[in-house]
Amino acid sequence: MTPPVENNRVRQPEGVKSRAQEKSPVRAVLEAEQLQPHLARAIIEERIRLAILDGSLPTGTAVRQQELANLYGVSRMPVREALRQLEAQGLLTVTHHKGAVVAELINDSASEAYDLRLLLEREALCLSVPLLDEADFAAAQQAIDQLEVEQDYSMMAQLNRDFHMALYAKASNRRLLRLIDQGLEEEERYLRFNMFEMGLADLIHQDHRDQLEAAKAHDTERCLALLETHLQRAIDAITRYREDKGQAASA
Ligand code: NI
Repeated sequence: MTPPVENNRVRQPEGVKSRAQEKSPVRAVLEAEQLQPHLARAIIEERIRLAILDGSLPTGTAVRQQELANLYGVSRMPVREALRQLEAQGLLTVTHHKGAVVAELINDSASEAYDLRLLLEREALCLSVPLLDEADFAAAQQAIDQLEVEQDYSMMAQLNRDFHMALYAKASNRRLLRLIDQGLEEEERYLRFNMFEMGLADLIHQDHRDQLEAAKAHDTERCLALLETHLQRAIDAITRYREDKGQAASA
């Protein structure tokens, strides 16, 4: 594989710290460890996935097979497999010249993902809200309480998923629920962005609390309106961010 361009920089004059002397972003973020060969693929995939989702490996960072193989004391084979999985999840982009780089997480398909969620989750609310019981409300409340204090992005994504799924629990269409669950899983990549970079954390928590109140009153119409607000917030934040970036690029 051709090494990325940034690695081929001309030598800096004496006294100036050269790029080669600095830690590569991957080495600065991921700890060296000796992995068991049979576990290597899964662990490498998870380490990189989390580093991408929590922003410590930003968009455009080169992720090199040989470097990871050295870091984890394994051959390139499990590394290549792990990178292929991450590419399939849309977290890495592999180009002929640069090799694997961290993909742009917030792209045009982000608002499409939310549009689709709205479509599916509206249906689930209609089916489920009239039938929700105390156990469902308790599950939703528990997810809300934990989500408000959780610091780990992966756990937060899981709790957000648990909350929304609790309100859909009584929908009888299992295939619908599977699709919704996939959409919520995919949301992990937008969660950090929306909650922290766009400062929406408090509003998101409030949306959840309001939705639970409406669900407890079996008020499907209000649940639908609140879901729409909740998802539209994310779409707006993403659209705003993309527009600002577009303006910055053309300025
Ligand atoms: Ni939510």
